[in-house]
Amino acid sequence: MSEERDPQRTLRSDAWYDGGDRNAYIHRAWMRRGAPSSAFEGRPQIAIANTASDLTPCNSHLDEVAQSVKNGVYEAGGIPLELPVVSLGETQVRPTAMLWRNMAAMATEEMLRANPIDGVVLLGGCDKTIPSLLMAAASVDLPAVVVPGGPMLTGHFRNEALGCGTDVWRLSEEVRAGTLSQDQFVKSESSMIRSRGHCNTMGTASTMALVAEALGTVIPGLAGTPAADSRLLEAAHDTGRFVVELVAAGRTPSSFLTKGNFHNAIVALAAIGGSTNAVVHLLAIAGRLGIDLTIDDFDRIGAEVPLLVNLQPAGQYLMDDLYRAGGFLAVLREVKDLLDPTALTVTGKPLVDYLADARIWDRDVITPRDAPLIPAAGISVLRGSLAPGGAIIKPAAASPRLLKHRGRALVFDSIEDFHRRIDDPDLDVDADSVLVLRGCGPKGYPGMPEVSNMPLPTKLLAQGVRDMVRICDGRMSGTAYGTVILHVTPEAAAGGPLALVQTGDWISLDVRNRRLDLDVPPEELAGRRPNDATVKGYANPRRGWERLYVDHVLQADTGADLDFLIGSSGSEVSRESH
Ligand code: FES
Repeated sequence: MSEERDPQRTLRSDAWYDGGDRNAYIHRAWMRRGAPSSAFEGRPQIAIANTASDLTPCNSHLDEVAQSVKNGVYEAGGIPLELPVVSLGETQVRPTAMLWRNMAAMATEEMLRANPIDGVVLLGGCDKTIPSLLMAAASVDLPAVVVPGGPMLTGHFRNEALGCGTDVWRLSEEVRAGTLSQDQFVKSESSMIRSRGHCNTMGTASTMALVAEALGTVIPGLAGTPAADSRLLEAAHDTGRFVVELVAAGRTPSSFLTKGNFHNAIVALAAIGGSTNAVVHLLAIAGRLGIDLTIDDFDRIGAEVPLLVNLQPAGQYLMDDLYRAGGFLAVLREVKDLLDPTALTVTGKPLVDYLADARIWDRDVITPRDAPLIPAAGISVLRGSLAPGGAIIKPAAASPRLLKHRGRALVFDSIEDFHRRIDDPDLDVDADSVLVLRGCGPKGYPGMPEVSNMPLPTKLLAQGVRDMVRICDGRMSGTAYGTVILHVTPEAAAGGPLALVQTGDWISLDVRNRRLDLDVPPEELAGRRPNDATVKGYANPRRGWERLYVDHVLQADTGADLDFLIGSSGSEVSRESH
């Protein structure tokens, strides 16, 4: 661009601001807004990718967090620039927030690349926001660090702690079972969300915040700080200072994220009893980095890792309990020997270097390694004639007696079909039945909604049944529990055998041997075709993002990213149009 460019300058933003030509004039003039000339002279331009939104209530406090980041950036000599990015409110966005994760990642990636940005602080919280920000950061490959927005404080109802998400499922089942009145159920609603912050169970938001730290993309010790805790703002300020150093060091995601970092994330995921959604998110992030992470790595690395965190939905407590009990680093210290000691964090130091001072202060909340909540708690990957590409189950959230089970299928062609029939008193179902729901995969729904933890039939609830084997090509909320086999690949809409199951077929589950089989002779299965109701249930959008998504989304076993978004385009400055 400018013939007068200073060859000593190395900042990416210099391509906009350096020199005396017309283009540099235009770029500086519009960004001055009262800033001194020194703002454009070798000072790193730091984007604060902010997912604050009134429609993402879990992230609505991030404007205040952004202000603390700005203060830190400015104090360290950088120029903070707030960049509002696509925000996804898990409870509000239809048809499912997952449909928009890749769009949010793509938009953030492109805006970071398109602008005069040298480094970025990623502010996320609600389920899809940290994954989409990390996918974007991996693909644009600018120095990047995450500040997780933190969980909300524990709310109480009738002297009982309420875990958001988990207790919604539990209380609504109690209403259906007749053990809680509708009036009391509605009364509990205003107690559920006590403060700013994301869900306080070990749901997807909590999981992804902690897993992002285990991955090395958060300054260690920050993740899990409650949103209402003033220490979050202190840490945000420190992160603002830090990102200026990060740019000076030129430490981009691709320069320090290796398979070892993902190994640590998987160990952490198991030790905290984290959400199954982390599987698709970590696979998608790895895909952006060109790291060869597979679904089987979750089983190989994580299956034998003990569950040490007694949080809902697998346990009892909530996220602010985890923080007071010693926090995430105290958990990691217990499994230090399982971590990859060479995996570096965004600070340039290995994760394991941060564990020496960590302590457990409440052994009810964080159990020590020699007395874990569950000895082997990681996600198991199942394969067999019903899931040739794999399916997953979280044994820690399942009923042990159902981990080996054979039952007759009761098939639903869509979630609407399920809701229409599940409470029919004449439904032919018993406690041994296997509920099968299809048409809920990435293509079929579209967007792979969290519907796999199907509510149980009312008539069985009334008999005291509280868990059944359920199989689906969709996802499950991280706050949910039960013997649920999810992410069945290939999904029904992509030609998977799930589309061919008929009510009454026998299905065998054997988690110990990692099998999920449809007990129908192959020659009989080969003669079957999906029925009309099944095919009608698949999405066939006419235009827009949904059309693009259905045409390009990959299956759950590789992270459900779009095929053309795999990998990185880097941070190269594009051509000028002025
Ligand atoms: Fe936002 Fe649960 S709804 S984290």
